[in-house]
Order: sequence, then C-alpha cells, then structure tokens
Amino acid sequence: MNMKIELKNVTKKYKELKALESISIRFNEGEFTSILGPSGCGKSTLLFVISGLINIDNGKVYFNDRDISLVETEKRNIGMVFQNYSLYPHMTVKENLLFPLKMKKTSKEYNMERVNYVLNLLKIENLIDRRPNELSGGQQQRVAIARALVKEPDILLMDEPFSNLDAKLRLEMREEIRRVQYETGITTLFVTHDQEEALTLSHNIVLMDKGEVIQISTPKELYERPLNIFAAEFIGSPPINIIDGKIENNKFIAENFSINLKKDFKNIENIKLAIRPENIEISKVGLEFTIVDLKLLGKDIWIKIEREKLILNIIASKNKNCEKDSVIRVTFKEILLYKDNQLLKGEKYEVEEN
Ligand SMILES: Nc1ncnc2c1ncn2[C@@H]1O[C@H](COP(=O)(O)OP(=O)(O)O)[C@@H](O)[C@H]1O
Ligand SMILES: [Mg+2]
Repeated sequence: MNMKIELKNVTKKYKELKALESISIRFNEGEFTSILGPSGCGKSTLLFVISGLINIDNGKVYFNDRDISLVETEKRNIGMVFQNYSLYPHMTVKENLLFPLKMKKTSKEYNMERVNYVLNLLKIENLIDRRPNELSGGQQQRVAIARALVKEPDILLMDEPFSNLDAKLRLEMREEIRRVQYETGITTLFVTHDQEEALTLSHNIVLMDKGEVIQISTPKELYERPLNIFAAEFIGSPPINIIDGKIENNKFIAENFSINLKKDFKNIENIKLAIRPENIEISKVGLEFTIVDLKLLGKDIWIKIEREKLILNIIASKNKNCEKDSVIRVTFKEILLYKDNQLLKGEKYEVEEN
C-alpha cells in the first residue's frame, strides 16, 4: 500500500533553537519529494519526525489521514536509508536483508521471496554472500536501499544517501533510485543539500531554510519562479544574478543602466532584479560589458562580465567568439523582480531592449 503523509504545524525545538518552525506539508502518495536546503536547516529533523525517531513539541503527523504523532517508529512501516550505510558488518548481504523480516514473523518462503525481489530490484544478486567490508560504497548503498525496501514499507525515507559516494557513482545511484522509485511506486522523501540532485530526481521539492519551508513546488517551477531571493540564489549553477534598482515609468532602473518592462507597473523603490545566467544573451545590440573571466563548462562557457562594478554571470555556447578583456553587448531575456524579498505577483517578467 502507498501512503500519503501530512504534517500540520509541526514544531521541534532543541532548547532555544527551533529546528522546525510550524511546518505544514503534504506529501502525495507515490511521489518522489526532495527535502532541500543548506546544512542545519532542519532536513534530517523533518525526516526523524516522520519516522518517529524524535518527538515533536507541537503539531501533528498524519499517514493517510490517520494521526500517527504518537505511534512508535516500528509501527509506522517505514524504510530508511542514511548517509553512512549502517549495514551490520558481521552479516552477509543475505543476512542483512533477512534481518528486518525477523521481527515480522512471516514465513521463510515469503522472506526469501522478498529478499530475492529486492536483490533483483537493486541488481545485487551476485553480492548475496559478501559482507559489507567486501563491498564498494555504491554496492553498500544498494544493499542499504534493498534492506529498507525488503519489509514492503509504505514510505521510503532517505537522508543524504549518496553524499559519501564519488561524483560518478553519485550520478549512477541517482539514476538507480529514480528507477527503483518508479518501479515500486513507493512514496519517497529524499533529503539532500545538493540542488542539482533535487532538481534532477524529484516530482516535487520542499525547499527549507532555518527550520522553515520556503517553497514547495516542482523542480521547473522552483527554478523558473523562485518565490524569494533565498530560493533564487540557492537554486542554479552558476548562480542567478541579482541587481538592485527601482521601477519608474515602466522601466527597471539600476545604477548604470535601465531596461523597459513589458507589463504596466507602479513606481516602486528598492527592487531587486534577478536573472538566470542563460537568460542574458550576447547580441549585436544592448548593454556593453567587458569580459573579465571565462570558464569552460563542457559544451557551454561560463562568462563573467563587468560594467562599472556590476559583475554578472552569463552562460554562452562554446562556439561564441569570446575572449578575456573584449567588449560584448548583452540583452536580458527574462527577468524576475523582487520587492521586500518576495517575488512580485509571482510572475516572470519579459523585458524589452532599451
Ligand atoms: N539532538 C540535537 N540537539 C541539539 N540540536 C540539534 C540536535 N539535532 C539537530 N540539532 C540542530 O537542529 C538544527 C537542524 O538540524 P538538522 O535537522 O540535522 O539539519 P540538516 O539535516 O538540514 O543539516 C541544526 O541547527 C542542528 O544543529
Ligand atoms: Mg542532515
């Protein structure tokens, strides 16, 4: 069975520190959700609350509309995977996989059927008689995922499961967990501080900062319409450009340039304009900037450009003819405007050349 999870006004304090501050979220059944945010923002605490490993100070947790706030971990039917593989070192893979089933009092046949199912699902049949110290990091994490799934849990919780793996393995395991989640259809919560991981893996992302939920949306929406400056800056690499200015006569006016806005605006002071590097286009017309740095990113180049102390990151294709210290012109394709740290009207704004 699959599970819908709901948190209502959940607060968790460690003495003075509010690790979670009145969190309300719903995780739909069968979906893959990433919990994303910087170190210390409360991601693991959130997972521990859902698993029942810690008590909450306030609020409620529901599984399929049933209040389970006081139900102990063992009775929540959850599979968990952590950063350190936490396999039993003295047991073989098979023994590690059988272990969670021991408590269940199910038949030997059923148990072996489940073990074979997860061995096959994670493609680790050939490792069945090995002990953890005879496995690579990636293999250990496959076993840990298999072990989390062997009991037929309703929910899979993973806390930075791939952060101990090298870059190549991490990519491979991302593909694997996507496939496993797709094949099993299990409601999955995946904690990560890696925005790229969250963007590539999930149906939905819960972005957190300092114990609070900043934004819940699809990866595309989070990337294209970050609701505040924190979200805008946390997502995307190279980072989004932020420029201070004001809106006057339907123009965004910065210190050393202005651009026409397509929509009608009131005049507003203290505006921040945000623009993704790929939305700044090198063109024949537009603002003059000097190239101050270039970095190759495979098929693209990351270029830093400067105009009277304003430095911007842009992305251009490699075949553009760009050299350090040369002068180029750029236009802005799509911009986001923020007032008091909030996205204005929640829209993207198109611009016209000035
Ligand atoms: N057992 C604990 N006692 C006191 N403070 C804790 C404890 N666990 C976590 N914290 C604090 O709560 C905040 C959130 O921690 P955590 O959920 O582990 O963050 P994340 O997983 O996002 O890195 C941090 O400031 C952390 O130092
Ligand atoms: Mg953590």
